[in-house]
Amino acid sequence: MTPSSDPTLLLAWYDRHKRSLPWRMPSGPLGGKPDPYRVWLSEVMLQQTTVATVGPRYARFLARFPDVGRLAAASWEEVAEEWAGLGYYARARNLHAGARALAAGGFPTTVEELRKIPGIGAYTAAAVAAIAFGRPVVPADGNVERVTARIHAVDQPLPAAKARLAMLAQGWMENAAARARPGDFAQALFDLGATVCTPRNPACAICPWRDCCVARQAGIQASLPRKTAKKPRPTRFGVHFLLSDAAGRLLLRRRPESGLLGGMLEVPGTPWREEAWGAAEAASHAPVAGIAWQPLNGEAAHGFTHFELRMALWRAEAPKGLALEGFSWWDAAAARAAMPTAMKRLLDLAGA
Ligand code: ADE
Repeated sequence: MTPSSDPTLLLAWYDRHKRSLPWRMPSGPLGGKPDPYRVWLSEVMLQQTTVATVGPRYARFLARFPDVGRLAAASWEEVAEEWAGLGYYARARNLHAGARALAAGGFPTTVEELRKIPGIGAYTAAAVAAIAFGRPVVPADGNVERVTARIHAVDQPLPAAKARLAMLAQGWMENAAARARPGDFAQALFDLGATVCTPRNPACAICPWRDCCVARQAGIQASLPRKTAKKPRPTRFGVHFLLSDAAGRLLLRRRPESGLLGGMLEVPGTPWREEAWGAAEAASHAPVAGIAWQPLNGEAAHGFTHFELRMALWRAEAPKGLALEGFSWWDAAAARAAMPTAMKRLLDLAGA
């Protein structure tokens, strides 16, 4: 019989070993209480991005938008530029929409109310409620799912096991020590998952829960959580058109608000599809017809979650004085700073 996982042991471990992370700094004027805006921002950034990448970008974002009011007052273009390169741009759109909703009424403090804010989903609501407001909930991200699957030896594969793992993780809040420190308990699970209970070679010898881990007892910890095999990612193709003027500026546009890279700056091009483009067919998508478009050698590639993108690039010099509805001229450096990585790859290919 394995003893049950005691939250007191995990919290004591966290008190000794917690990582020093920028969003865990004391928040000054609030007298050491977590600032919900900072907690929210860090949790949104951390959802698809590593702790190492988030650190500097979190600080930079806060320097530019120090509170929810400043974020709400900013234009989408400013927010998009600040998010450039972090990927999963829907997060930035949601953050901006959420800030506009929150600026008026302030932060609600319960999971249910937080869920009503546009763009705040189940995970984010739970994380903010626990960390910023001490609500007794356990947000289940990938780290928490892994720790939970191992402690309880859940061998049902992800994603089917998600609801069950979330419920088991929430079970820790039955314990008074966990309920007294929900924010620390959540972050202790994050840290345990990131530093000890790691995906491939868990360091069980130094784990505060080593004696109660059912998967470890069975010797199957490294194989959990199981995952249903993913389909291979298909390849999609696009052809993009880079027009420069005599001063070396580039003609760019914004993508539609919804969908992939929504609202982000792009080099205009064809849609992205699974069939490669023929030249004549691609040319009908050029922003300007009847000029000498030159296909460049090579291609630019970028991996998205659901497909691999391969882009060809055609270049041309703009006719003098060209202005096109919906497009604007950008210096290459400013364009790079505002662009998603997929689009920067095209500028790399062009040497721009
Ligand atoms: N991953 C998600 N949220 C986190 C947090 N607050 N600290 C560390 N890692 C995290």
